[in-house]
Amino acid sequence: MPALTDRPTSLKTDGACASSLTYRLMSQAGRNPECRSAAKVVLSLARAATELSLLLGRGPLGGAHATATGNQNVDGDVQKSLDVLANDMIVEALRRTPTAYYASEEEDAILTLAQNGLVAVAVDPLDGSSNIDSNVSIGTIFSIFPTSRDGATASFFRPGSEQLAAGYFIYGPHTALVLTTGHGTDVYVLDPLTKSFSLAAAHISIPRETQEFAINASNYRHWFDPVRTFIDDCYAGAEGPHAKDFNMRWIASLVAETHRIFMRGGVFLYPADARKGYQQGRLRLIYEAAPIAFLVEQAGGFAIDGPNRILDLVPTSLHQRTPLHFGSADKVNKIRRYHEDPAFLRRTAPLFNTRGLFNA
Ligand code: F6P
Ligand code: MN
Repeated sequence: MPALTDRPTSLKTDGACASSLTYRLMSQAGRNPECRSAAKVVLSLARAATELSLLLGRGPLGGAHATATGNQNVDGDVQKSLDVLANDMIVEALRRTPTAYYASEEEDAILTLAQNGLVAVAVDPLDGSSNIDSNVSIGTIFSIFPTSRDGATASFFRPGSEQLAAGYFIYGPHTALVLTTGHGTDVYVLDPLTKSFSLAAAHISIPRETQEFAINASNYRHWFDPVRTFIDDCYAGAEGPHAKDFNMRWIASLVAETHRIFMRGGVFLYPADARKGYQQGRLRLIYEAAPIAFLVEQAGGFAIDGPNRILDLVPTSLHQRTPLHFGSADKVNKIRRYHEDPAFLRRTAPLFNTRGLFNA
C-alpha cells in the first residue's frame, strides 16, 4: 500500500486512536482504490473474527462446537461444524465489502460476491480446527489480491508476491491479528471489552538464526532425503553439521506455529512425503502458504517449497497443495540448499549417497 497520505472519508474514523486498526488501515490506504478496498476487507474480517473469537471463547457452552457436520441439535436444527460456521460468518461479512471473488477452503469453487469489486479474497476460515476440542490456539488465514481483468480464476492463479495484503487472526489466550500490507508485519490485539483491535507491535522481525524446528516427526519414514537429512543433522546437535543443539515443537496448528516463530524465531517444515495424497505436502498454496509466506518475508524471514520461493509459485488449481518450509531466513536458506544438493537427487543409488555440501 502507498505510504500514509490523506485520510479517506468513506471509512469511519470516529473514536479511532492512532494505534487502532481502523485508524492505521485508513491512513495507510490513502486514496488508492484497491488499497481502500483491501482496508475495508480487513476491517470486515476483523469484525467477523471478533464474533468468532467470542463464540470460540465460550467453548462447548457456545453450542456451536460440534466438529462433525450434519449433527442435529436439541431443537432439531442441523448443526454446522465450526469450519463451516466460520466460513458462513466470513462470507456474510465480505458481502458488505468490495470483494469481487471469494475463495475458501470450505468452498469447492470461487464465489462471486460484488460484481465490480476491486479485490479477491482467499481464506482458510478455521485453520487447525482439529485442535478445538483440546483448547489449543487456532486461527483464520486470509490473502487479498487486486481483482484481475481476466476474471475470477486469474485473480487467484498468480504469484503470491502480487498480494495486496495478507494476515491471520489467532484465537488463543488472547486474540491477535498479524497483518501485512507490504510494508512490514504488524501485530494487533483484540480487546474483548471494547471489541476493537489495537497495535501491539509494529514491524516485527524474525531472528535470522534459530535453534528450534517444528515438524511432524511421526512422518519421518515417509520423508524424502533432503528433509530427512536436514532433520537428522538437527538431531545430531552440537556434534552434527549444524554444530548446535536443537529444540523441537509441533502443535499441528499452522497459525499457532507461525505465531511462535514470529515471537521467538524457528523454522517450520511441512514437506512433501511418500504417503498417498502427500506428494505435494499437506498445506494449501492459495489460502495457507502464500499469505503466511508474505507475512514471513515482510518480517525478514523466508518461505520455500523446497527449491522454490513460495511467493514465486503460480497456482494452477484452487485447492492446490504445496510443501511449506518457513521461518528464520538463514535456516530456511539452509533447507533450500539441502534440496539442491545433487546427492539427494539420486536417493536410491548408494554410489551417489555420500554427503556433499553439508559435511564440511
Ligand atoms: O490446515 C492444516 C493443518 O491443520 C495445519 O494447521 C497444521 O499445520 C497441519 O494441518 C497439521 O498436520 P498434521 O496433522 O499432519 O500434523
Ligand atoms: Mn488450515
